[in-house]
Amino acid sequence: MKMDEFVLENWLNPACDSEKNKVYLGGSCVLPMSVKEMFELIGEDMDAFFDELKDMNLGYPRFEGTPRTREALSKLYKTVKPEEIILCHGGTGANSTVCYTLLDPEDNIISVVPNYQQFYSIPRSIGTEVRDVHLKIKDGYKIDLEEIRNTVDQNTKAIMFTNPNNPTGSVLTEDEMKELVEIAKSVDAWIVCDEMYRGLDEEYMPSFMDMYDKAIVTASSSKIYSMAGMRVGWIVCKDPELRKALMNWRSYDSICGGVFDEWIFAIALEHVDKIFARSRKIVNHNKAIVDKWLEGNKKYLAQYADAHGTTYLIHYNFDVPAEKFCDDLLDQKGVLVCHGDCFEIPHSFRITLSHAHELEKGLALIDEYMAELEAAGKYVPAE
Ligand SMILES: Cc1ncc(COP(=O)(O)O)c(C=O)c1O
Repeated sequence: MKMDEFVLENWLNPACDSEKNKVYLGGSCVLPMSVKEMFELIGEDMDAFFDELKDMNLGYPRFEGTPRTREALSKLYKTVKPEEIILCHGGTGANSTVCYTLLDPEDNIISVVPNYQQFYSIPRSIGTEVRDVHLKIKDGYKIDLEEIRNTVDQNTKAIMFTNPNNPTGSVLTEDEMKELVEIAKSVDAWIVCDEMYRGLDEEYMPSFMDMYDKAIVTASSSKIYSMAGMRVGWIVCKDPELRKALMNWRSYDSICGGVFDEWIFAIALEHVDKIFARSRKIVNHNKAIVDKWLEGNKKYLAQYADAHGTTYLIHYNFDVPAEKFCDDLLDQKGVLVCHGDCFEIPHSFRITLSHAHELEKGLALIDEYMAELEAAGKYVPAE
Protein backbone atom coordinates (compact mmCIF):
# COMPACT_ATOMS: atom_id res chain seq x y z
CA MET A 1 0.00 0.00 0.00
CA LYS A 2 1.42 3.37 -1.03
CA MET A 3 0.93 6.29 1.32
CA ASP A 4 1.47 9.94 0.34
CA GLU A 5 3.92 12.05 2.28
CA PHE A 6 1.94 13.65 5.17
CA VAL A 7 2.94 17.17 4.18
CA LEU A 8 1.72 19.11 7.21
CA GLU A 9 2.93 16.76 9.94
CA ASN A 10 6.25 15.93 8.25
CA TRP A 11 7.12 19.56 7.66
CA LEU A 12 5.76 21.19 10.81
CA ASN A 13 6.81 18.70 13.48
CA PRO A 14 10.58 18.67 12.71
CA ALA A 15 10.52 22.45 12.23
CA CYS A 16 8.79 22.77 15.58
CA ASP A 17 11.47 20.73 17.35
CA SER A 18 14.36 22.50 15.58
CA GLU A 19 16.74 24.94 17.26
CA LYS A 20 15.74 27.55 14.72
CA ASN A 21 12.19 27.77 16.09
CA LYS A 22 12.29 30.76 18.42
CA VAL A 23 8.74 32.05 18.04
CA TYR A 24 6.23 29.32 17.34
CA LEU A 25 3.21 30.61 15.47
CA GLY A 26 2.51 27.49 13.41
CA GLY A 27 0.37 25.33 15.66
CA SER A 28 -3.35 24.95 16.08
CA CYS A 29 -3.70 23.75 19.70
CA VAL A 30 -4.80 26.26 22.30
CA LEU A 31 -1.88 26.98 24.63
CA PRO A 32 -1.34 23.80 26.67
CA MET A 33 -1.54 23.81 30.46
CA SER A 34 0.47 22.07 33.14
CA VAL A 35 -1.42 19.62 35.37
CA LYS A 36 -1.26 22.23 38.14
CA GLU A 37 -2.67 24.98 35.92
CA MET A 38 -5.47 22.70 34.84
CA PHE A 39 -6.48 21.86 38.40
CA GLU A 40 -6.35 25.52 39.39
CA LEU A 41 -8.53 26.40 36.42
CA ILE A 42 -11.20 23.80 37.07
CA GLY A 43 -11.10 24.19 40.85
CA GLU A 44 -10.60 20.49 41.66
CA ASP A 45 -8.35 19.13 44.39
CA MET A 46 -5.07 18.14 42.74
CA ASP A 47 -3.74 16.31 45.79
CA ALA A 48 -6.85 14.14 45.91
CA PHE A 49 -6.22 13.34 42.26
CA PHE A 50 -2.60 12.36 42.96
CA ASP A 51 -3.81 10.13 45.80
CA GLU A 52 -6.21 8.48 43.38
CA LEU A 53 -3.36 7.90 40.94
CA LYS A 54 -1.37 6.00 43.57
CA ASP A 55 -4.00 3.30 43.63
CA MET A 56 -4.68 3.33 39.93
CA ASN A 57 -4.49 -0.04 38.25
CA LEU A 58 -1.96 0.04 35.44
CA GLY A 59 -3.62 -2.72 33.44
CA TYR A 60 -5.74 -2.09 30.38
CA PRO A 61 -8.59 0.35 30.99
CA ARG A 62 -12.05 -0.69 29.80
CA PHE A 63 -11.63 -1.67 26.15
CA GLU A 64 -14.46 0.43 24.85
CA GLY A 65 -13.06 3.42 26.80
CA THR A 66 -13.17 4.68 30.37
CA PRO A 67 -16.90 5.04 31.25
CA ARG A 68 -16.36 8.36 33.01
CA THR A 69 -14.74 9.79 29.88
CA ARG A 70 -17.44 8.53 27.51
CA GLU A 71 -20.13 9.84 29.83
CA ALA A 72 -18.55 13.31 29.90
CA LEU A 73 -18.02 13.26 26.13
CA SER A 74 -21.65 12.38 25.43
CA LYS A 75 -22.64 15.69 27.07
CA LEU A 76 -20.89 17.60 24.29
CA TYR A 77 -23.78 16.59 22.02
CA LYS A 78 -27.56 16.73 22.31
CA THR A 79 -28.55 13.19 21.36
CA VAL A 80 -25.43 11.06 21.84
CA LYS A 81 -25.26 8.20 24.34
CA PRO A 82 -21.96 7.19 25.97
CA GLU A 83 -22.03 3.82 24.22
CA GLU A 84 -22.05 5.58 20.84
CA ILE A 85 -18.54 6.91 21.48
CA ILE A 86 -15.36 5.01 20.69
CA LEU A 87 -12.15 6.28 22.27
CA CYS A 88 -9.03 6.26 20.09
CA HIS A 89 -5.41 7.36 20.11
CA GLY A 90 -5.86 11.05 19.32
CA GLY A 91 -7.92 12.56 16.56
CA THR A 92 -5.45 11.00 14.17
CA GLY A 93 -6.34 7.54 15.46
CA ALA A 94 -10.03 8.38 15.18
CA ASN A 95 -9.73 9.62 11.58
CA SER A 96 -7.66 6.71 10.35
CA THR A 97 -9.97 4.18 12.05
CA VAL A 98 -12.94 5.72 10.24
CA CYS A 99 -11.23 5.80 6.83
CA TYR A 100 -9.97 2.20 6.95
CA THR A 101 -13.24 0.85 8.27
CA LEU A 102 -15.66 2.70 6.04
CA LEU A 103 -14.07 2.87 2.61
CA ASP A 104 -13.69 0.39 -0.24
CA PRO A 105 -11.92 0.69 -3.59
CA GLU A 106 -15.20 0.83 -5.51
CA ASP A 107 -16.45 3.89 -3.56
CA ASN A 108 -15.94 7.54 -4.17
CA ILE A 109 -15.77 10.21 -1.50
CA ILE A 110 -16.15 13.97 -1.61
CA SER A 111 -13.17 15.67 0.01
CA VAL A 112 -13.67 19.32 0.87
CA VAL A 113 -10.29 21.02 0.32
CA PRO A 114 -8.47 22.23 2.40
CA ASN A 115 -9.02 19.06 4.36
CA TYR A 116 -7.02 17.18 6.96
CA GLN A 117 -4.77 15.01 4.82
CA GLN A 118 -5.92 11.75 6.39
CA PHE A 119 -9.29 12.35 4.71
CA TYR A 120 -7.87 12.16 1.18
CA SER A 121 -4.54 10.36 1.33
CA ILE A 122 -5.86 7.34 3.25
CA PRO A 123 -8.87 6.97 0.90
CA ARG A 124 -6.54 7.23 -2.11
CA SER A 125 -4.25 4.58 -0.65
CA ILE A 126 -7.27 2.27 -0.33
CA GLY A 127 -8.09 2.90 -3.99
CA THR A 128 -11.20 4.98 -3.26
CA GLU A 129 -11.85 7.73 -5.80
CA VAL A 130 -11.40 11.14 -4.18
CA ARG A 131 -13.49 13.95 -5.64
CA ASP A 132 -12.20 17.33 -4.50
CA VAL A 133 -14.52 20.22 -3.85
CA HIS A 134 -12.46 23.32 -3.11
CA LEU A 135 -13.35 26.06 -0.68
CA LYS A 136 -12.97 29.35 -2.50
CA ILE A 137 -11.80 32.79 -1.51
CA LYS A 138 -14.84 34.36 -3.18
CA ASP A 139 -17.09 32.37 -0.80
CA GLY A 140 -15.04 33.37 2.26
CA TYR A 141 -13.87 29.74 2.24
CA LYS A 142 -17.37 28.43 2.99
CA ILE A 143 -18.45 25.12 1.48
CA ASP A 144 -20.15 25.48 -1.91
CA LEU A 145 -23.17 23.24 -1.30
CA GLU A 146 -24.28 23.45 -4.93
CA GLU A 147 -20.95 22.04 -6.05
CA ILE A 148 -21.24 19.20 -3.54
CA ARG A 149 -24.75 18.47 -4.85
CA ASN A 150 -23.37 18.30 -8.38
CA THR A 151 -20.43 16.09 -7.43
CA VAL A 152 -22.08 13.32 -5.39
CA ASP A 153 -23.53 10.24 -7.07
CA GLN A 154 -24.87 6.80 -6.13
CA ASN A 155 -21.30 5.58 -5.50
CA THR A 156 -20.50 8.31 -3.02
CA LYS A 157 -19.79 6.57 0.26
CA ALA A 158 -19.03 9.71 2.27
CA ILE A 159 -18.62 13.46 2.27
CA MET A 160 -15.46 14.08 4.31
CA PHE A 161 -14.36 17.43 5.68
CA THR A 162 -13.40 19.45 8.75
CA ASN A 163 -15.92 21.82 10.38
CA PRO A 164 -14.76 24.34 11.57
CA ASN A 165 -12.32 24.13 8.74
CA ASN A 166 -8.59 23.78 9.28
CA PRO A 167 -6.78 26.06 8.43
CA THR A 168 -9.29 28.74 7.39
CA GLY A 169 -11.66 28.46 10.38
CA SER A 170 -14.74 28.82 8.18
CA VAL A 171 -17.80 27.10 9.59
CA LEU A 172 -21.21 26.01 8.32
CA THR A 173 -24.35 27.56 9.77
CA GLU A 174 -26.95 25.17 11.16
CA ASP A 175 -29.09 25.67 8.02
CA GLU A 176 -26.13 24.89 5.78
CA MET A 177 -25.40 21.77 7.85
CA LYS A 178 -29.01 20.67 7.37
CA GLU A 179 -28.73 21.26 3.63
CA LEU A 180 -25.57 19.19 3.50
CA VAL A 181 -27.38 16.39 5.34
CA GLU A 182 -30.13 16.51 2.69
CA ILE A 183 -27.51 16.21 -0.05
CA ALA A 184 -25.91 13.22 1.71
CA LYS A 185 -29.34 11.62 2.21
CA SER A 186 -30.16 12.01 -1.49
CA VAL A 187 -27.40 9.49 -2.34
CA ASP A 188 -27.44 7.60 0.98
CA ALA A 189 -23.90 8.77 1.79
CA TRP A 190 -22.25 9.14 5.18
CA ILE A 191 -21.19 12.50 6.48
CA VAL A 192 -17.75 12.13 8.03
CA CYS A 193 -16.88 15.32 9.83
CA ASP A 194 -13.68 16.08 11.70
CA GLU A 195 -14.97 18.41 14.44
CA MET A 196 -11.61 18.91 16.21
CA TYR A 197 -12.18 22.68 16.33
CA ARG A 198 -15.84 22.67 17.36
CA GLY A 199 -16.72 24.53 20.56
CA LEU A 200 -14.97 27.89 20.45
CA ASP A 201 -18.05 30.01 19.81
CA GLU A 202 -19.78 31.51 22.82
CA GLU A 203 -23.08 29.92 21.75
CA TYR A 204 -23.50 26.16 21.36
CA MET A 205 -22.05 24.95 18.05
CA PRO A 206 -24.19 22.24 16.46
CA SER A 207 -22.69 18.87 15.59
CA PHE A 208 -23.58 16.66 12.64
CA MET A 209 -24.08 13.92 15.24
CA ASP A 210 -27.35 15.51 16.28
CA MET A 211 -28.61 15.90 12.73
CA TYR A 212 -28.11 12.70 10.78
CA ASP A 213 -28.10 8.99 11.63
CA LYS A 214 -25.41 8.42 9.03
CA ALA A 215 -23.04 11.00 10.49
CA ILE A 216 -19.66 9.99 11.85
CA VAL A 217 -17.88 12.63 13.85
CA THR A 218 -14.29 12.64 15.08
CA ALA A 219 -12.72 14.93 17.67
CA SER A 220 -9.93 15.00 20.23
CA SER A 221 -8.50 16.55 23.37
CA SER A 222 -5.76 18.28 21.37
CA LYS A 223 -7.06 21.56 20.03
CA ILE A 224 -9.69 23.52 21.93
CA TYR A 225 -9.17 21.49 25.11
CA SER A 226 -5.41 22.28 25.12
CA MET A 227 -4.49 18.68 25.95
CA ALA A 228 -2.73 17.27 22.88
CA GLY A 229 -0.37 15.26 25.07
CA MET A 230 -3.32 13.29 26.43
CA ARG A 231 -3.84 11.62 23.06
CA VAL A 232 -7.55 11.15 23.62
CA GLY A 233 -9.49 11.09 20.39
CA TRP A 234 -13.00 9.84 19.79
CA ILE A 235 -15.39 8.71 17.11
CA VAL A 236 -19.12 9.20 17.49
CA CYS A 237 -21.24 6.79 15.48
CA LYS A 238 -24.87 5.84 16.05
CA ASP A 239 -24.90 2.80 13.79
CA PRO A 240 -24.26 -0.33 15.93
CA GLU A 241 -22.99 -2.43 13.03
CA LEU A 242 -20.52 0.17 11.85
CA ARG A 243 -19.46 0.76 15.47
CA LYS A 244 -18.61 -2.91 15.75
CA ALA A 245 -16.52 -2.66 12.60
CA LEU A 246 -14.79 0.48 13.91
CA MET A 247 -13.98 -1.33 17.16
CA ASN A 248 -12.63 -4.23 15.15
CA TRP A 249 -10.26 -1.98 13.23
CA ARG A 250 -9.18 -0.26 16.42
CA SER A 251 -8.30 -3.67 17.88
CA TYR A 252 -5.77 -4.08 15.08
CA ASP A 253 -4.49 -0.56 15.50
CA SER A 254 -4.23 0.18 19.22
CA ILE A 255 -6.60 -2.07 21.26
CA CYS A 256 -7.58 0.79 23.57
CA GLY A 257 -6.52 4.18 24.89
CA GLY A 258 -4.24 5.11 27.80
CA VAL A 259 -5.53 4.81 31.34
CA PHE A 260 -4.01 8.10 32.61
CA ASP A 261 -4.95 10.01 29.51
CA GLU A 262 -8.61 9.11 29.63
CA TRP A 263 -8.82 9.74 33.36
CA ILE A 264 -7.32 13.23 33.35
CA PHE A 265 -9.32 14.18 30.30
CA ALA A 266 -12.54 13.03 31.99
CA ILE A 267 -11.82 15.34 34.93
CA ALA A 268 -11.21 18.25 32.54
CA LEU A 269 -14.39 17.49 30.59
CA GLU A 270 -16.47 17.63 33.73
CA HIS A 271 -15.51 21.32 33.82
CA VAL A 272 -15.65 21.88 30.11
CA ASP A 273 -17.19 25.35 30.45
CA LYS A 274 -14.06 26.54 32.24
CA ILE A 275 -11.77 24.92 29.66
CA PHE A 276 -13.74 26.52 26.82
CA ALA A 277 -13.83 29.92 28.54
CA ARG A 278 -10.03 29.87 28.81
CA SER A 279 -9.64 28.82 25.18
CA ARG A 280 -12.02 31.51 23.95
CA LYS A 281 -10.23 34.16 25.96
CA ILE A 282 -6.86 33.18 24.50
CA VAL A 283 -8.13 32.93 20.92
CA ASN A 284 -10.12 36.17 21.06
CA HIS A 285 -7.18 38.03 22.53
CA ASN A 286 -4.80 36.76 19.85
CA LYS A 287 -7.35 37.29 17.10
CA ALA A 288 -7.60 41.00 17.97
CA ILE A 289 -3.81 41.30 17.77
CA VAL A 290 -3.59 39.50 14.42
CA ASP A 291 -6.57 41.45 13.00
CA LYS A 292 -4.87 44.73 13.85
CA TRP A 293 -1.64 43.51 12.30
CA LEU A 294 -3.47 42.45 9.12
CA GLU A 295 -5.21 45.84 8.96
CA GLY A 296 -1.80 47.51 8.87
CA ASN A 297 -0.46 45.05 6.29
CA LYS A 298 -3.17 45.12 3.62
CA LYS A 299 -0.56 45.77 0.97
CA TYR A 300 1.06 42.39 1.61
CA LEU A 301 -1.50 40.17 3.30
CA ALA A 302 -5.16 39.10 3.21
CA GLN A 303 -7.36 36.78 5.28
CA TYR A 304 -10.75 35.86 3.79
CA ALA A 305 -12.68 33.70 6.25
CA ASP A 306 -15.02 34.40 9.13
CA ALA A 307 -12.83 32.20 11.30
CA HIS A 308 -14.25 30.09 14.16
CA GLY A 309 -11.20 27.89 14.72
CA THR A 310 -7.79 28.43 16.24
CA THR A 311 -5.92 29.58 13.13
CA TYR A 312 -6.06 31.99 10.19
CA LEU A 313 -5.01 31.16 6.67
CA ILE A 314 -3.22 34.24 5.36
CA HIS A 315 -2.46 34.91 1.69
CA TYR A 316 0.62 36.99 0.82
CA ASN A 317 1.58 39.07 -2.19
CA PHE A 318 5.14 37.91 -2.75
CA ASP A 319 6.55 35.88 -5.60
CA VAL A 320 7.87 33.17 -3.30
CA PRO A 321 6.47 29.62 -3.04
CA ALA A 322 4.80 28.90 0.28
CA GLU A 323 7.29 26.37 1.60
CA LYS A 324 10.25 28.60 0.77
CA PHE A 325 8.48 31.61 2.26
CA CYS A 326 8.11 29.75 5.56
CA ASP A 327 11.53 28.05 5.47
CA ASP A 328 13.24 31.41 4.94
CA LEU A 329 11.14 33.08 7.62
CA LEU A 330 12.24 30.38 10.05
CA ASP A 331 15.91 30.52 8.97
CA GLN A 332 16.18 34.29 8.93
CA LYS A 333 13.89 35.38 11.73
CA GLY A 334 13.27 32.28 13.86
CA VAL A 335 9.49 32.52 13.35
CA LEU A 336 7.62 29.33 12.52
CA VAL A 337 4.32 29.49 10.64
CA CYS A 338 2.84 26.64 8.67
CA HIS A 339 3.15 26.86 4.87
CA GLY A 340 0.03 26.80 2.70
CA ASP A 341 1.22 23.93 0.48
CA CYS A 342 0.40 21.70 3.48
CA PHE A 343 -3.21 22.53 2.61
CA GLU A 344 -2.74 22.73 -1.16
CA ILE A 345 -3.17 26.52 -1.05
CA PRO A 346 -0.19 28.29 -2.66
CA HIS A 347 1.15 31.67 -1.53
CA SER A 348 -0.34 31.35 1.91
CA PHE A 349 0.51 30.38 5.46
CA ARG A 350 -1.40 29.30 8.55
CA ILE A 351 -0.84 31.32 11.68
CA THR A 352 -1.97 30.41 15.16
CA LEU A 353 -4.55 32.37 17.12
CA SER A 354 -4.12 30.09 20.03
CA HIS A 355 -0.61 29.34 21.07
CA ALA A 356 1.46 32.43 21.14
CA HIS A 357 3.48 33.57 24.11
CA GLU A 358 5.26 36.00 21.87
CA LEU A 359 2.72 36.73 19.19
CA GLU A 360 3.49 40.44 18.82
CA LYS A 361 7.23 39.81 18.71
CA GLY A 362 6.68 37.18 15.99
CA LEU A 363 4.45 39.51 13.96
CA ALA A 364 7.07 42.28 14.15
CA LEU A 365 9.67 39.83 12.85
CA ILE A 366 7.35 38.88 9.97
CA ASP A 367 7.06 42.63 9.22
CA GLU A 368 10.85 42.85 8.99
CA TYR A 369 10.96 39.78 6.76
CA MET A 370 8.30 41.15 4.40
CA ALA A 371 10.09 44.52 4.14
CA GLU A 372 13.24 42.64 3.17
CA LEU A 373 11.34 40.64 0.57
CA GLU A 374 10.00 43.86 -0.95
CA ALA A 375 13.49 45.34 -0.98
CA ALA A 376 14.61 42.21 -2.85
CA GLY A 377 11.96 42.87 -5.53
CA LYS A 378 9.68 39.99 -4.51
CA TYR A 379 6.52 42.03 -3.87
CA VAL A 380 3.78 41.45 -6.45
CA PRO A 381 0.72 43.72 -6.05
CA ALA A 382 -2.57 41.80 -5.77
CA GLU A 383 -4.64 41.77 -9.00
C1 LIG B 1 -8.26 18.90 11.48
C2 LIG B 1 -7.38 18.03 12.31
N1 LIG B 1 -7.74 16.76 12.54
C3 LIG B 1 -7.00 15.94 13.28
C4 LIG B 1 -5.81 16.36 13.83
C5 LIG B 1 -5.03 15.41 14.68
O1 LIG B 1 -5.08 15.76 15.99
P1 LIG B 1 -4.63 14.82 17.22
O2 LIG B 1 -3.55 15.55 17.90
O3 LIG B 1 -5.84 14.72 18.07
O4 LIG B 1 -4.20 13.51 16.67
C6 LIG B 1 -5.37 17.67 13.61
C7 LIG B 1 -4.08 18.13 14.13
O5 LIG B 1 -3.48 19.07 13.69
C8 LIG B 1 -6.18 18.52 12.83
O6 LIG B 1 -5.84 19.79 12.60
